[in-house]
Amino acid sequence: MQYRKYAGTDIKLSALGFGAMRLPDDDDFAVECMQHALDGGLNFIDSAPGYRGGSEREPGSSEKLVGRAIKAVPRDQVYVSTKNATGCPSASEWREGLENSLRNLDTDYIDFYQLVHGMRWESYTEAFRPNAWEEALKARDEGLIRHFSFSSHDSPENIIKLLEEGIFESCIIQYNLLDRANEPVIDYARENGISILVMGPVGGGRLGMRSEQLESIVSGVRSTPELALRFVLNNPGVTTALSGMNTIEMIDENIATASLDSALSDDEMAAIEETLKKNEALAELYCTGCDYCMPCPQNVGISRIFAAMNMHRVWGMTEAAKQRYARLGPESRSGLLQADACVECGSCETLCPQNIPIIEQLKESHEALKG
Ligand SMILES: NC(=O)c1ccc[n+]([C@@H]2O[C@H](COP(=O)([O-])OP(=O)(O)OC[C@H]3O[C@@H](n4cnc5c(N)ncnc54)[C@H](OP(=O)(O)O)[C@@H]3O)[C@@H](O)[C@H]2O)c1
Ligand code: SF4
Ligand code: SF4
Repeated sequence: MQYRKYAGTDIKLSALGFGAMRLPDDDDFAVECMQHALDGGLNFIDSAPGYRGGSEREPGSSEKLVGRAIKAVPRDQVYVSTKNATGCPSASEWREGLENSLRNLDTDYIDFYQLVHGMRWESYTEAFRPNAWEEALKARDEGLIRHFSFSSHDSPENIIKLLEEGIFESCIIQYNLLDRANEPVIDYARENGISILVMGPVGGGRLGMRSEQLESIVSGVRSTPELALRFVLNNPGVTTALSGMNTIEMIDENIATASLDSALSDDEMAAIEETLKKNEALAELYCTGCDYCMPCPQNVGISRIFAAMNMHRVWGMTEAAKQRYARLGPESRSGLLQADACVECGSCETLCPQNIPIIEQLKESHEALKG
């Protein structure tokens, strides 16, 4: 495993972190997966109070499972990140959010606290700074939080503005082969000694499936997720790539990739960029599968539909995409429905951090993938 220094500290974070947003359905196996990763040298796990770790669980379940997993190692040998999702209406409610996470995680302190889950410039200036900043300082003085950070889906310009405030040691932002918009943020952070923790390095699963086209660009690459992780870790401004992994095989593969010290060459990077440009026009859907848009009142399987649509549109895997789409319906285990169940209420669109025109894209997806 490669280890990289965290901000201005002596902390060495594993280049691969465990993102506990999606976890296997079985609780014991979810814990086993995280502990397997810790055995393999990973030392960083990210969670959030809103993460269920699977649609069948209650919010907070991910933190509780992380709390169970980290019992396997001495507390000072694992770094835990979680987030404050209260929206900072008041100091006391922000504090309540923190205490709730500490309880869920069953720990005395949080190493990297995302002071606001999904911070935006407006939420920073209008809510966090006036209502919760003093409370955050107090919590750090009390030893409940070790390092100030935030996660964000705001524009790169606004994320840089947040970093310019000079109070954060790191931030969690999205970055992958399919979404490079945050490269200026990564450059700014690198120049200013701030750590970048990447969410969605495997494109939220879009780069988990085989793309012979991408794999053929770099000789010796064994799989598309390997190329995806190598691409992210090749950026010298990235400290850790937080990947969601729900099988032992994925964990082993990603640990092996994060242990490679071979950087991509300039020629390989240029070839990747050329291919991506060609695909860009096709890839209008940038759904990360975060499920912030759920639950849909009509039970439309939004992220699953978009995952299938990307398989078809971007990577030309149409048969596999249609098979995936056909699995949705009232008889399916999840009960999630195909796109034609949408009644265009619009509630999902206001929640999507990627600003995807969901209603329109659902219609296109149904036309392309229906039987
Ligand atoms: N993405 C977001 O919007 C977001 C927001 C806030 C925070 N975060 C944080 O960032 C973490 C990571 O985000 P993410 O879960 O979107 O990360 P990701 O690593 O980009 O996506 C995870 C998915 O990629 C696929 N995958 C990963 N490694 C693979 C491998 N070796 N082989 C095949 N498939 C592989 C799996 O897809 P399948 O399950 O489909 O097989 C897996 O569920 C989250 O857990 C969370 O802690 C993310
Ligand atoms: S617009 Fe359609 S997909 Fe979105 S929440 Fe409403 S019914 Fe569900
Ligand atoms: S449509 Fe938007 S909110 Fe819904 S899963 Fe995709 S990226 Fe997330």
